[in-house]
Amino acid sequence: MALLQILEYPDPRLRKVASPVAAVTPEIQKLVRDLAETMYAAPGIGLAATQVDVHKRVIVMDLSETRDELRVFINPEILEVGGEAEAEEGCLSVPGYYDKVTRPATARVRALNQRGERFNVDADGLLAVCIQHEMDHLMGKVFVDHLSPLKRARLSARLRKKQRLAG
Ligand code: NI
Repeated sequence: MALLQILEYPDPRLRKVASPVAAVTPEIQKLVRDLAETMYAAPGIGLAATQVDVHKRVIVMDLSETRDELRVFINPEILEVGGEAEAEEGCLSVPGYYDKVTRPATARVRALNQRGERFNVDADGLLAVCIQHEMDHLMGKVFVDHLSPLKRARLSARLRKKQRLAG
């Protein structure tokens, strides 16, 4: 296994659109293991392949307190959404920044697991938020894209300041 480097916003590589996985090969299974290791080490609750500069439709997630319930979504598709809910989100690619985002409250998702088996999940609560957040990454979107232009301008100013202090 290997720890992968997580790209940080506003890295332009976070804007790439991921391609579907043609087959769940040993190479894809290795990517899943590396993504999981990187997510657990960060630590985070979800990670999309896009965030480690691999542009394939692969997501890992673990929402459990005990950090031993890995969920894998390969080629995820949203079949249906319902309602609307606001939740505070953060992202390993936007360290230290959290803000409220409004999204559909529920999502029915179809995907493949790490063995290439198809499954469906009816997600609500944190799972629904997390799946939609990670699927945005696969489309080249970051959660801050959902914020108002004013909030994004403030975030950019903060990141530039951080860069100056670091550099
Ligand atoms: Ni994220």
